[in-house]
Amino acid sequence: MSTLIHPFHIPLSRRKLLHSLLLTTGGIITSSVYAEALALTPRATEGPYYPDHLPLDQDNDLTMILGGKAPANGVVTEFGGRLLNVDGKPIQDAVIELWQSDNNGCYIHSRGTQQGKERDPQFQGYGKIETNPKGEYRFRTILPGLYTGRTLHYHIRVKQNEKSMLTTQLFIAGIPQNDRDGILRSMGTEQQRLSVIREFKSMSAGSKELAATWDIVIGHTPEEPDQRGRGPGGPGGSPPRRRDSAALNEQNLQDLVLGPSPF
Ligand SMILES: [Fe+2]
Repeated sequence: MSTLIHPFHIPLSRRKLLHSLLLTTGGIITSSVYAEALALTPRATEGPYYPDHLPLDQDNDLTMILGGKAPANGVVTEFGGRLLNVDGKPIQDAVIELWQSDNNGCYIHSRGTQQGKERDPQFQGYGKIETNPKGEYRFRTILPGLYTGRTLHYHIRVKQNEKSMLTTQLFIAGIPQNDRDGILRSMGTEQQRLSVIREFKSMSAGSKELAATWDIVIGHTPEEPDQRGRGPGGPGGSPPRRRDSAALNEQNLQDLVLGPSPF
């Protein structure tokens, strides 16, 4: 493990819960399908807000920063799963990066503050984790804030041996703006798009914290720099088709997540 990777800043009881979550819900793909080639996770543009100044705290818990006085604002989420190759084999020692907007739709980027908004200084904005021998990774963070022109999304990059293997985005099922999001609609085949729209469910009865599983499937070839910036379609992708109607069944999610829509 890299010395740059810190554990969650969370109590032991929480760690046990996270561990059990990983064990029970850590993957959506069973060994029975390992023999078949998996659909690659589609690429997406890295967008304009990859941090131009990385934070000192870069661990996989974005809800707290080292020395921070309070947790970040927003709805706490956790997501994780396994990093797999197309043959279904777990990939260990890869680095998975996450960067996203805070609860106000602002990024930790010198041009990442949305008009009329302020960045939440308690939100880490960027984090990373190395995959373990089972290929597992996990992040604790918040629902990204909405900003004009996009649906809610997380930015993800996978690196192996310092080389970028995949730049993509993760989406939340049930968000109405998903249907109109041009980047999501341009991502690969319908099967590939479905793979990046995950259901975030309450961690336990009565909890407002949400959790999702997401397995990431990468190929063997590093990305070219222009793929990171452009990113439409993705490996093996086809022209955009009408978006699926994936899992618009998360009751109250919209009320929980969305303030006034900019659309
Ligand atoms: Fe973004």
